[in-house]
Amino acid sequence: MKGGLALASFPAGGTALVIGASGAIGAAFFETLRQAPSVVRVIGLGRTTAPALDLTVEGSIAAAAAAIGALEPRLVIDATGFLHEAGHRPERSWRHLEPEHMAKAFAVNAIGPALLIKHFLPQLPRTGKAVFATLSAKVGSIGDNHLGGWYSYRASKAALNQLVHTAAIELRRQRPDAICVALHPGTVDTPLSAPFAKMGLVVRPPAEAATQMLAVIDALTPTQSGGFFDYRGRELLW
Ligand SMILES: NC(=O)c1ccc[n+]([C@@H]2O[C@H](COP(=O)([O-])OP(=O)(O)OC[C@H]3O[C@@H](n4cnc5c(N)ncnc54)[C@H](OP(=O)(O)O)[C@@H]3O)[C@@H](O)[C@H]2O)c1
Repeated sequence: MKGGLALASFPAGGTALVIGASGAIGAAFFETLRQAPSVVRVIGLGRTTAPALDLTVEGSIAAAAAAIGALEPRLVIDATGFLHEAGHRPERSWRHLEPEHMAKAFAVNAIGPALLIKHFLPQLPRTGKAVFATLSAKVGSIGDNHLGGWYSYRASKAALNQLVHTAAIELRRQRPDAICVALHPGTVDTPLSAPFAKMGLVVRPPAEAATQMLAVIDALTPTQSGGFFDYRGRELLW
């Protein structure tokens, strides 16, 4: 007996897909969705699943979409993302800009999700509520950028936001009930944020963030498609 978040705005019996299910927030989405009464099946995808999905290999995205397409997922959550790796922290100055690091940020944070849009949006059901939600970040907001720095992450998430907004316009023509949005999870206790969690900053557990974002997704209507929302459902500046 499932007793989790109802997701009552979705037709019952649907499939949910979490891309990046190995990540901290992705794993929390996966577990929370398994408890949702209106979801009959949750599929997690990533670089180590079968089929494997690597955002930098379009063929792997196409193959995964082909393998799952017949299930017509009602909810596709992209919880992938890249901020730092050994030897590369977010840039504090233009002096730190390196083309290879920038290219990786754009490949994982913008081009990869664009390819998810290309291959998974056509798999959404033609009628009834369906949602594609990708995890962006408030620091990708140009209007909210008062501190500077973090050039590659900010710019790649800003590009992601534009891709989401553009895809939503095309999606509306084909699937008027479907919704495509960018979500900001807030600051969450994960390997991605760990080196930057400042003293005094509220850092929430992944399960809490996933539950909050699923409540936002549940409340979304098609008129909000193409938007950029935080985990409380507040629309963010572009
Ligand atoms: N944590 C925060 O405070 C915070 C704040 C704002 C926004 N966000 C956003 O939330 C999302 C999830 O972040 P998180 O904190 O949960 O990070 P995380 O634990 O580091 O998870 C990142 C996920 O991205 C996947 N990934 C990276 N490169 C990939 C590739 N080439 N192909 C396929 N998958 C790839 C990872 O897969 P592997 O396991 O294979 O590496 C992992 O599943 C990101 O978009 C992030 O920008 C997070």
